[in-house]
Amino acid sequence: MVLHARQGCRALRARGGGRTVTRLVYVVAAGENGVIGRDGGLPWRLSSDLRRFKEITMGKPLVMGRKTYESIGRPLPGRDNIVVTRRGGFAPEGVIVADSLEAALKVAEEKARARGADEIAVIGGGEIFEALMDRVERIYLSRVHASPGGDVFLPALDPAEWRETAREDHEAGERDDASFSLVVLDRVAGRS
Ligand SMILES: NC(=O)c1ccc[n+]([C@@H]2O[C@H](COP(=O)([O-])OP(=O)(O)OC[C@H]3O[C@@H](n4cnc5c(N)ncnc54)[C@H](OP(=O)(O)O)[C@@H]3O)[C@@H](O)[C@H]2O)c1
Repeated sequence: MVLHARQGCRALRARGGGRTVTRLVYVVAAGENGVIGRDGGLPWRLSSDLRRFKEITMGKPLVMGRKTYESIGRPLPGRDNIVVTRRGGFAPEGVIVADSLEAALKVAEEKARARGADEIAVIGGGEIFEALMDRVERIYLSRVHASPGGDVFLPALDPAEWRETAREDHEAGERDDASFSLVVLDRVAGRS
């Protein structure tokens, strides 16, 4: 299934303001230095964070870039996997392919409504996080207490735009490379 840009743009305009109705959230793990990726993969091993990722995203539509999809390598079960790419002919089984972010958000909104999900989870990578920065309302951030080398970054977060509404600090477990904090950031009302 391939969705096209014009369909998405029309739907968002019809609702006015270019915002989705369901809350748009990011689910991301970032080092102290903002690094989120290296050489097409993750720069750490963090089993605890993978569990949290599953808990937050289960039953929701996911929006991701083609490179992130390829780094995962398969559709994630129990979720709608919506992949954006400009590549014609990209059509892995079990995935909804969109040729623009607008088209991806439109189908995500429809899928969320059909599932009764209250959030659309944008799961990366760097290009997609950058492009949707003005629209995201909540960030589920795993702040990894390390500063690994990397080539993909989470865009800088303006502290005036974001309020921390939850935090849990965790020591590194047996299968974690570093300690980490699970943080929820909500966009400050009226500032977006
Ligand atoms: N730490 C974390 O939480 C986390 C999360 C996700 C990913 N990552 C890491 O981040 C890295 C991948 O991020 P990335 O920034 O390189 O790539 P990405 O954002 O995953 O994917 C970029 C691709 O998405 C497509 N795309 C982007 N904007 C588009 C648009 N407006 N319309 C249509 N298609 C569009 C293009 O695909 P085509 O080239 O096919 O046209 C583009 O090359 C990997 O290292 C991954 O492991 C880390």
